[in-house]
Amino acid sequence: MAERDYVRIFDTTLRDGEQSPGCSMNVGEKRRLACQLDRLGVDVLEAGFPISSEGDFQAVRAVAQEIRRPVIAALARCCQADIERAWQAVEAAERPRIHTFLATSDIHLQHKLKISRRDCLERARDAVCLAKSFCQDVEFSPEDATRSDVEFLCEVLEAVIVAGATTVNIPDTVGYAVPAEYADLISTLRNRVRGIEQVTISAHCHNDLGLAVANSLAAVAAGARQVECTINGIGERAGNASLEEVVMAMRVRPDRYPYCTTVATEHLFPSSQLLTAITGVGVQPNKAIIGRNAFAHEAGIHQDGMIKNPLTYEIMTPQSVGVPSTRLVMGKHSGRHALQIRCERMGFQLNGRELDMVYRLFIALADHAKVVDDGRILDLIRQVRIARTSSRECSGQPRTPLASDAHVGAMPVTQLSNAVERAPAPPLVTTGNESEQHEDYLWGV
Ligand code: KIV
Ligand code: ZN
Repeated sequence: MAERDYVRIFDTTLRDGEQSPGCSMNVGEKRRLACQLDRLGVDVLEAGFPISSEGDFQAVRAVAQEIRRPVIAALARCCQADIERAWQAVEAAERPRIHTFLATSDIHLQHKLKISRRDCLERARDAVCLAKSFCQDVEFSPEDATRSDVEFLCEVLEAVIVAGATTVNIPDTVGYAVPAEYADLISTLRNRVRGIEQVTISAHCHNDLGLAVANSLAAVAAGARQVECTINGIGERAGNASLEEVVMAMRVRPDRYPYCTTVATEHLFPSSQLLTAITGVGVQPNKAIIGRNAFAHEAGIHQDGMIKNPLTYEIMTPQSVGVPSTRLVMGKHSGRHALQIRCERMGFQLNGRELDMVYRLFIALADHAKVVDDGRILDLIRQVRIARTSSRECSGQPRTPLASDAHVGAMPVTQLSNAVERAPAPPLVTTGNESEQHEDYLWGV
């Protein structure tokens, strides 16, 4: 694999991600998630900010001792106590990294740090020198880089590279940049900073304008070869770039992003689930890649397309990201074809007339219920069956069984049919004017 094509994935779920409200993790939780991130195949695992608390120090140390494959990074401000503590936490790692940061924007220098640009440059250089005295692998981040004066940013980066930094990270700390601008900044730094070709350039984007992933990808296209991101996109305020989105954009669109990672994408969904289980903080249903609806289809036309060929409406398979399967959600936008397939999966081969009747009841019900689950569909089949049987009995015809001998999951159809028989009769769902309805209202495919 050519170095030029390889993008390192730096996971900061346990550090920047943990800084999001409700997402703090104890030592045991960090260890569990770190094991999963190792399985996922991230290159760098930022385990925490050791000076921030005794608990975080212990967590970073435990991760550094147990997780052997990835680089284990610890965060430190540009001061001696932080750097020494970070080193104590990661020194047992197979591949330790100290990640030290200092703001470079005038806004931060004047209002937060109250230091001059000269002080800032010296502090950054001294901090990297100190970190380097402990550890070969040192990352430096000029916090708020995207709102910093570019000339000054170049000066600081040049100084820290001379001092021994091996990665220079360019944080869009407040999520202010837009993709073309962020890409331009990376290109400018590549052109102007002496020695930058010897180090890895890293992108670190926050999502305040919803552009964290777009900015990260733009940075990669401009020459960044490390992306800092988090599972589920958790992080300060609106979060960090979402790891699963960055990785899958490169995986699904190699024509536009001809870069590779070593992420085992089938572990994306399990990683997301584990994080949610640990923090209790869920993701929105429409979240790309790992949201509940990311592989769910409700519209009739979409369901029909999906049944014919999933390529029609899915650009990646659910299995490729570890989601067990596509879901055809039965709601008011669903069509006859999807309902027929759902009935067949439950063991009921309906003829055209029966399907029409079930579908009509289904649409009436779906108008009121957001989602119609399998139990409700079974009720509808039962209603149709009872209605058909009694009309046949009146006309003296024999009763035709509706169920085939297929299985629903592990439940044989005979059992299912019995369940249908035994279920109490549900109230008949009507639209109020069924006698006036014609078959051609069944527009659903
Ligand atoms: O957003 C930021 O600037 C950071 C740095 C500490 C890298 O998280
Ligand atoms: Zn950050």
